[in-house]
Amino acid sequence: MKKKIIVLPGDGIGKEIMDAAVEVLSTVSHKYNHEFIFEQHEIGGTSYDKYGEPLTDETVEACLRADAILLGAIGGPKWDSLPPHLRPEQGLLKIRKALNLFANIRPIKGFKPLLHASPLKESVIQGSDIYIVRELTGGLYFGTPRERREDGNVAVDTLLYHREEIERIVEKGFESARLRNKHLTSVDKANVLESSRLWREIVEEKKADYPDVKVDHMLVDSAAMKLITDPTYFDVIVTENLFGDILSDEGSVLTGSIGMLPSASLSETIGLFEPVHGSAPDIAGKGIANPLGMILSAAMMLRYSFNLNEEASLIEHAVEKSLEQGYHTSDLNIKDGKQVNTKEMTEIVIRNL
Ligand code: NAD
Ligand code: IPM
Ligand code: MN
Repeated sequence: MKKKIIVLPGDGIGKEIMDAAVEVLSTVSHKYNHEFIFEQHEIGGTSYDKYGEPLTDETVEACLRADAILLGAIGGPKWDSLPPHLRPEQGLLKIRKALNLFANIRPIKGFKPLLHASPLKESVIQGSDIYIVRELTGGLYFGTPRERREDGNVAVDTLLYHREEIERIVEKGFESARLRNKHLTSVDKANVLESSRLWREIVEEKKADYPDVKVDHMLVDSAAMKLITDPTYFDVIVTENLFGDILSDEGSVLTGSIGMLPSASLSETIGLFEPVHGSAPDIAGKGIANPLGMILSAAMMLRYSFNLNEEASLIEHAVEKSLEQGYHTSDLNIKDGKQVNTKEMTEIVIRNL
């Protein structure tokens, strides 16, 4: 199979973990005789430094012509005082919108060897397997107006959703649940927000089309509590953009580290794959970042965009085996483990492929 993959390392640890993913994918492609052509472009602060903007139209066009996209992470203190439209985060939001990546899939499934690496009790997290379906191109992130008024002393953001935007993500939630344990939890704030009341109405309408799926509604504050007190309650969670952002970082605690979580951002036609975490400015440049969330994102790319399920499983098993052998990066709190850096962890995964 021949595929063109756009590689957007971004900022901070983004570059360090992207090297890991590309090495792993290259090894897999040799093993199975695939040809993966990697084409690197800039995004975030790195793009701003080079081109004066966090994402150029040329890069968007290259992404539109590609078979899939890998993204490391963006952002960092160096660019935090730029005007809003030039911030690195704007590059990420622009690519999500330009490619219509409305469905952000964030699976949260802990690896057995890491059960004791979570600050939560093993008895609480044992058996948890959650699949967050986060809406990614609407809500508070994109609604207008968003501005300062009255000499900067009043700020406005707008939480806006069109029916069609809710319908397509809710359908994605139901379809995902159908392929898993057939339990969908729709998370909202319908006791306060009008957009949540529309969201809830649409979930109620859609459920007739999925009689095999058990569906319930949960308020986001309560869901945040239940996620870490009773995580095995959940199967698929479908929720709006900001709630999904917050709940997925919280959910990462089940796995031992935010550095473990992969994600897929999907349109009807293309996928962008990135870890859930950010550019980790506190450890950037030290070569100690956990590359596993990025490597597992590459596995998601093989599965979701190329339908290469065997190759994806091979990567996931190699990650699991490496953890079983006791290897881990410094973000994971493991007793009697073998602490390694990013490059070493990557070599160990490759050895286990
Ligand atoms: P962060 O996820 O970058 O870091 C939070 C904490 O987790 C830090 O202590 C960091 O060292 C640690 N961490 C994260 N990933 C790790 C990894 N792979 N290995 C080891 N440790 C890891 O979140 P933050 O500090 O709030 O944000 C930093 C910057 O990243 C900000 O500019 C933010 O806007 C950006 N950000 C980008 C993305 C993205 O590119 N998708 C996601 C989140 C945040
Ligand atoms: C994420 C990040 C982004 C988001 C930021 C950097 C714009 O936190 O991918 O989770 O909020 O979506
Ligand atoms: Mn986030």
